[in-house]
Amino acid sequence: MLARIRSGTVVGIQSVPVRVEVHLGSGLPAISVVGLPNGAVREGKDRVRAALGSIGFRIPPRRITVNLAPADLRKDGSGLDLPLAVGLMVGAGALPQAALEGVALVGELGLEGHLRPVRGALAVARGVRPSGAHTLIVPRQNGAEAAAADPHLTVLGADSLEEVVGHLLGEVEIPRVHPRCPQEAIWETRPDEDLADVRGQPAARRALEVAAAGGHNLLLAGPPGSGKTMLARRLPGILPALAPSEALDVTSIHSVAGLLREGSGLMGSRPFRAPHHSISRTGMVGGGSPIRPGEITLAHQGVLFLDELPEFGRSTLEALRQPLEGGEISVVRARERVRFPARFTLMAAMNPCPCGYLGHPERPCTCDPGQVARYRSRVSGPVQDRIDLQVEVPPVPYRDLRGSGGEESSEVVRARVRAARRLQGERLGPDRVNAGMSSGEVRRLVELSPEAEGFLERASQRFHLSARGVHRVLKVARTLADLAGAVQVGRAEVAEALQYRLPGGIR
Ligand SMILES: Nc1ncnc2c1ncn2[C@@H]1O[C@H](COP(=O)(O)OP(=O)(O)OP(=O)(O)O)[C@@H](O)[C@H]1O
Ligand SMILES: [Mg+2]
Ligand SMILES: [Zn+2]
Repeated sequence: MLARIRSGTVVGIQSVPVRVEVHLGSGLPAISVVGLPNGAVREGKDRVRAALGSIGFRIPPRRITVNLAPADLRKDGSGLDLPLAVGLMVGAGALPQAALEGVALVGELGLEGHLRPVRGALAVARGVRPSGAHTLIVPRQNGAEAAAADPHLTVLGADSLEEVVGHLLGEVEIPRVHPRCPQEAIWETRPDEDLADVRGQPAARRALEVAAAGGHNLLLAGPPGSGKTMLARRLPGILPALAPSEALDVTSIHSVAGLLREGSGLMGSRPFRAPHHSISRTGMVGGGSPIRPGEITLAHQGVLFLDELPEFGRSTLEALRQPLEGGEISVVRARERVRFPARFTLMAAMNPCPCGYLGHPERPCTCDPGQVARYRSRVSGPVQDRIDLQVEVPPVPYRDLRGSGGEESSEVVRARVRAARRLQGERLGPDRVNAGMSSGEVRRLVELSPEAEGFLERASQRFHLSARGVHRVLKVARTLADLAGAVQVGRAEVAEALQYRLPGGIR
């Protein structure tokens, strides 16, 4: 007798339906699993045997073949335990196949038959209805995230194999999990990191606002203690909340990485990732076995903050080039290639030189020119080239630091960011920002005044701007005009955008 049970697995963050087929034949008692199971899936056999034993079910002493379809897809993780256990019971005639009509299952089993949460439950849940099922049974801890996937999917959160079997036999009813509202946005959870706390630094504050408004990458350079780290940490607080369509992908990523808090539904706030400079290339871009997303993917639709930029490994920084250009990364493992989304705003901070005081108005720099050049060359041209906004953060004069002048709060800045993003959405489509414009869109949608046109032409000749450089200046200028509520880009916007590209002390 052949049992067929629906389940699913995750490739990258994409859901792939998996069918667990159990066949009981004649021959020496044994269970063999075919269809590219990985270690965790093979070990599942022992957990399944113990869990079935705990509810008093003995696996028939027959020759049992378990086929995981599609056969050519490598299956990771322990989520196939539950469908395998149920499949063995159906195969042995202890459960009717009809009870599994339209039902998919995923979950890891403990030895005593309790269900344990799995990674990627939200991602799996997104693929269930498209594959033709209407109900998904998951471990209770995964219920909230799975229910967020699709309002028309019935999600049941179970505690044990016994409960699942009872439900399928119609003896008990597992309660349905209802989707919850997204969590409130980030500024309500981080009142301790407000822009009102930053004294002075008008240029850096402006650049932060421009970065938030248009999604542009930003580099802050300045001496120790000038407030670079402090400013960077305040970027998420001026970004708008995630749109519902973005929240599904972002939450799926965190679910696959095992970083979702238990019982939490869709994420509402944008991620802010600040990996230490000792991070490996794999930690940054993803990889390993089983394959996991890296920091750039965890920062998708949010902020990747690289503090002390030149201290990061060269190959780690070089690996950022592809995602900075295309908004995704493909990670290769053995013969497989997995794509992860990685559309983030890069926020970086650095000192101008190893001692930190080059260009400081009072303190002398103790570095020789060779040291300074080596330090800067660690951040390669191609990476720097992709940072549209480069700003110097000078030391704060004592008078500014102690002054009582009210600095603008994050809330006030956020309102301007939101208005500028609304204009971009109308022009480019929902939830898109200027930094993501294609070159065709730049040509069609960035309208310059005649004066601005002439000014840009002269500047690009004088500063030998590459074609990419010109495009990037135009994107930033478009954001500056959006912040001003202007239809046309004027000379003032072009001049300000150029200045972010060619700051005196940085290059
Ligand atoms: N502009 C500022 N307004 C208010 N406080 C500031 C400002 N700049 C620095 N500070 C104070 O100094 C501390 C150190 O600032 P921060 O860590 O941001 O400096 P940094 O520029 O990142 O320095 P480093 O180059 O050493 O990393 C802050 O926690 C804050 O208390
Ligand atoms: Mg710092
Ligand atoms: Zn120095």
